[in-house]
Amino acid sequence: MDGLSNAPYRYIETRKIAGALGAEVHGVNLAEPLPPEVLAEVRQALLENLVIFFRDQDMTPDRLLAFARNWGEIHRHPYIAGMPGYPDVLELAKKAGDTRNFGGDWHTDQMFAPRPAMGTMLWCKTAPDAGGDTLFSNQYLAYETLSDGMKALIGTIRGIAVGDKKKNGQTRAAVNAATVSGYTTLEAPAEMRRSPHPLVRTHPETGRKSLYIGGHVHYLENMTEEESEPLISYLYNHSQRPDFTCRFRWEAGSLAFWDNRCTMHFAINDYPPGTRMMHRVTVAGDEPF
Ligand code: SIN
Repeated sequence: MDGLSNAPYRYIETRKIAGALGAEVHGVNLAEPLPPEVLAEVRQALLENLVIFFRDQDMTPDRLLAFARNWGEIHRHPYIAGMPGYPDVLELAKKAGDTRNFGGDWHTDQMFAPRPAMGTMLWCKTAPDAGGDTLFSNQYLAYETLSDGMKALIGTIRGIAVGDKKKNGQTRAAVNAATVSGYTTLEAPAEMRRSPHPLVRTHPETGRKSLYIGGHVHYLENMTEEESEPLISYLYNHSQRPDFTCRFRWEAGSLAFWDNRCTMHFAINDYPPGTRMMHRVTVAGDEPF
C-alpha cells in the first residue's frame, strides 16, 4: 500500500485526496444498480473516508434517488421545494447574476431536524471553469484533538440547532431568495425548525465520537445566546482547522457522498459570474446520541 489507498478492496479502487478525509472511488457505475458485494465496499469506503467522490457519472434524478435508497429513506428538505416531479431532489443552480450560494458556510445537513440527514449525495451537472469547490472537515478529528477537560465539559451539553433563521438574524426565506434564483421556499412544520442535539455525538456504525457543531447551532440548552457564544465560537472555529479538511474540485459528472454524522462541509462562493448546477439528495438519519 502507498498510503493513498485504503485497505485492499476487491471490486472498487479508492484514492485518498487528503490526509484527514476524502477519497475518490473508481470502478463503479452509479447509473446502474450496484451488486451487493460492490455496495458493501462502497459502504466501507464511506465509513473509512467520511466523504467519497465518483467521477464521470451519468446521473438522472431517478438514478440519484435509486443510489441514495441503498442507504435508507430519503430525507426531504423541509424548507426548499424539490425539482418538478421530484420533491426529494433539490436543484442547486447558481447563475451568472446570483451573488450568494447555497451552503456557503460550515454546516452539516438538516441539523435543525430531530433526525438530521445521515448522508448527502451531490451530483454536478455544470461546474464553473474555475472555483466552486467544496470543503469538507473531519469531525472525529475535531473531537479527538480537544483537551480532556474540554471533552468532559461539552460531553453533557446540547446545542440548539435552528433552521428558519441564520445566525445573523436573517430569515431562511430571505436567505433562500437572495441565494439561488428559482427557489421555492416551503413553510417547514414546527418540529423541523429547531432541535436540541448533543455537542458530541457517537457514530451509530463506527462507535466513534465526533464534534457536532454545524452553523445551525444558535445557542446552548439552558443558556442565553450571550452565554453560549464563546463556547460555540471556539468549537466552531476549531472544527474548521485546515488539517481536518479536504477540498474537492468539481467536474460535470462528479458525485460526492458525505456522512453528515462525522463531517461538515462548505461550498466556496468564488466564481462570479460563473454558473454551477448541482442535484442534491439527502438520506434520512437517526436521532444523534
Ligand atoms: C450543500 O451544502 O449541501 C451544498 C454543497 C455544495 O454545493 O457544494
